[in-house]
Amino acid sequence: MNILVTGGAGFIGSHTLIELYRAGHTAVVVDNLCNSNSESLRRVEGIVGVDGIPFYRTDIRDREGLERVFAMHRLDACIHFAGLKAVGESVERPWEYYENNISGTLVLVDVMRRHGCKNIIFSSSATVYGDPAEIPISERCPKGRCTNPYGWTKSMLEQVLTDIQRADPEWNVVLLRYFNPVGAHPTGRIGENPNGIPNNLMPYITQVAIGKRPELGVFGNDYPTPDGTGVRDYIHVVDLANGHVCALKAIERACGLGIYNLGTGHGYSVLEMVRAFERVNGVKIPYCVKPRRAGDIAACYSDPAKAERELGWKAKFGIDEMVRDSWNWQRLNPDGYN
Ligand code: NAD
Ligand code: UD1
Repeated sequence: MNILVTGGAGFIGSHTLIELYRAGHTAVVVDNLCNSNSESLRRVEGIVGVDGIPFYRTDIRDREGLERVFAMHRLDACIHFAGLKAVGESVERPWEYYENNISGTLVLVDVMRRHGCKNIIFSSSATVYGDPAEIPISERCPKGRCTNPYGWTKSMLEQVLTDIQRADPEWNVVLLRYFNPVGAHPTGRIGENPNGIPNNLMPYITQVAIGKRPELGVFGNDYPTPDGTGVRDYIHVVDLANGHVCALKAIERACGLGIYNLGTGHGYSVLEMVRAFERVNGVKIPYCVKPRRAGDIAACYSDPAKAERELGWKAKFGIDEMVRDSWNWQRLNPDGYN
């Protein structure tokens, strides 16, 4: 299939491009580069051995721009990564988050249907479960109250896309709820490139390892978890990327609406992540315990059985590969793509 990949220059999008080409698909990338660098696309081309993946520096809110892309290419489906994703920033700038993520998706979906392209895979998040009613979290678990505008954009867009599919069964909509993506491509050529001080655990750890930050702050050690620190379901970004290729097969089978968790099913605490990083990479990570971070929950990990049953997808990489590849990327690219 020929796939429109919005946000394709970003962290998960760039890894997904590789798996798409490896599976025999082709792609057209739309990204406004507000949180990425087109160097990632050049590196993807090098890894897959393809010259010139079509790339448009276009905002998904720009209707005319998207119309031009659809006029130039016959597109079978869209994998929609484009969006703003910084939780703290979304609390400070809610309008910008709702406008970018929600208006952008509404424009995108309208242009898609005008061109008869009614297949979409949407990047959702485990954040839609809020403080989950049960753990491990299966897709039967009800959605919860999000703690920030970013989370609400995901929850609302899930509803928008669900309603659009219900009203017009020609649509195939796959909502993928990612748990905690980490790692990088094993080549060390592409990876996560956060701006400023990282909010997420893994890029913070790698920046401590490379000496950019003196120590890791562990946000709370009094949670009701085995060692008191927060437990999450970390998933290697290459596994996550492959989840999108499997979701495309469901679209080819005309799946209608599909909702899937993409996680490993295993929870690791902050201190387990630190120890795994130190053991595998032989680098010390100094840390100090800080107060809990507002909005954090104690534990969150998936029941990924539905994705295995219906999509034939299962995470293959474990914690050792996650910490190895995160460090490999950081070590080889101390300043990311800059
Ligand atoms: P990223 O910031 O690296 O990638 C998003 C890309 O979208 C960037 O390249 C950015 O420039 C682009 N973009 C943003 N707004 C745009 C717009 N209006 N028009 C065109 N391009 C635009 O983030 P990522 O980690 O690769 O995340 C991809 C998707 O997955 C996002 O929707 C994110 O919310 C979702 N997600 C990410 C995580 C995570 O931990 N990384 C977890 C759950 C869900
Ligand atoms: C966060 C977002 C979530 C988003 C996800 C992926 C919040 C409340 N949730 O999830 O909406 O989908 O990122 O981008 O922000 N930790 C530390 N020190 C740090 C950083 C993190 O101890 O410097 C701890 C956290 O308290 C948590 C764990 O590490 O227990 C993971 O944190 P993080 O990587 O930010 O992911 P989430 O909070 O799970």
